Amino acid sequence: MIELNHISKVFPTRSGDFTALDDISLSIESGEVFGIIGESGAGKSTLVRCINLLERPTSGSVVIDGRDVTGLAGRELRELRSGIGMIFQNISLFQQRSVIDNVRFPATLKASSIGSGSAAEQASRARELLGVVGLAEKADAFPNQLSGGQQQRVAIARALMTSPSVLLCDEATSALDTLTTGSVLDLLARINRELGVTIVLITHSLFVARKVCGRVAVMEAGHVVEQGSLQDVFDHPRADVTKALLGIETGKEVA
Ligand SMILES: Nc1ncnc2c1ncn2[C@@H]1O[C@H](COP(=O)(O)OP(=O)(O)OP(=O)(O)O)[C@@H](O)[C@H]1O
Ligand SMILES: [Mg+2]
Repeated sequence: MIELNHISKVFPTRSGDFTALDDISLSIESGEVFGIIGESGAGKSTLVRCINLLERPTSGSVVIDGRDVTGLAGRELRELRSGIGMIFQNISLFQQRSVIDNVRFPATLKASSIGSGSAAEQASRARELLGVVGLAEKADAFPNQLSGGQQQRVAIARALMTSPSVLLCDEATSALDTLTTGSVLDLLARINRELGVTIVLITHSLFVARKVCGRVAVMEAGHVVEQGSLQDVFDHPRADVTKALLGIETGKEVA
C-alpha cells in the first residue's frame, strides 16, 4: 500500500513560492489501478513523482508497505526506485539501441539492485517481457522502426525489467490514437491482473480512466477535491471541476 500523508510541495520561483501540492493525503491499495485526473497544472505529475521521490515533498510523508520512505537516499533510494517503474507520455527509448537492448537496459545499470544475473539471463528476461507486451518478433528492431503504440509497449517492458510492484503511468497514452490507446490500456490492465502490479495512472482523459481505473482522485490547483470508486465519482460528481471534466467529455454544459 502507498500512503501519502499530508504531502505539500512548494517550489521556489522568481516571483515567490508556488504551492503545487497543498496537504494531500491519499492511499493506494496494493494491486489496484488508481487514477489521478484533473486539468493541466493541477499537480498530478508532481504528486506522482513524490511516490518515487523524484520530487521531494516539502512536508508530509510517503509510506510504502508500512515503511516511511520519505527520507531515503543513496542505495536505499535506488532500491526503492527499482521497485517502482515509470512510463511517460514522451517515450524515451534509446534510438541507437535495439528493442531488446532497450528493455534490458535497467538490468545493466550497476546501481540497480537487480544488476546481477548474467548477460544471458538478462536477455532471456527481456525476451520474456517482450512476449508479455506482444512484441517478441521485434526484439532486434530499432525504435524508429516501430509505431508509437509499439514504442510505448517497449517502454512498458523496460519498466517491468526490474520486476516492480508499482507502475506509475504519467499520461502514457496521451500521444496515441484511440485504438492504440485502447490496446495499451488493455495491456496495462493485464499487467495489473496477471502480474499483480499496482498501477497509478495519471490522465486527463475520462475515457482512459473509465477503461481501467478502479478508484480515482480528482485534483484541482494542488488539492484532491474528491476521491472514490470510479463509478461513484463519475456517477455522482460533487466537485465543480469533476463536473466540468465530465461535461467536456459529454459536450454538455455544466452550470
Ligand atoms: N520545478 C518546478 N518549479 C516551479 N513550478 C513547478 C515546477 N514543477 C511544477 N511546477 C508547477 O506546479 C504546478 C503543477 O504541475 P504538474 O506538472 O504537477 O501539473 P499536471 O497536473 O501534471 O499538469 P499537466 O496535465 O499539464 O501535465 C504547475 O503550475 C507547474 O507550473
Ligand atoms: Mg503532468
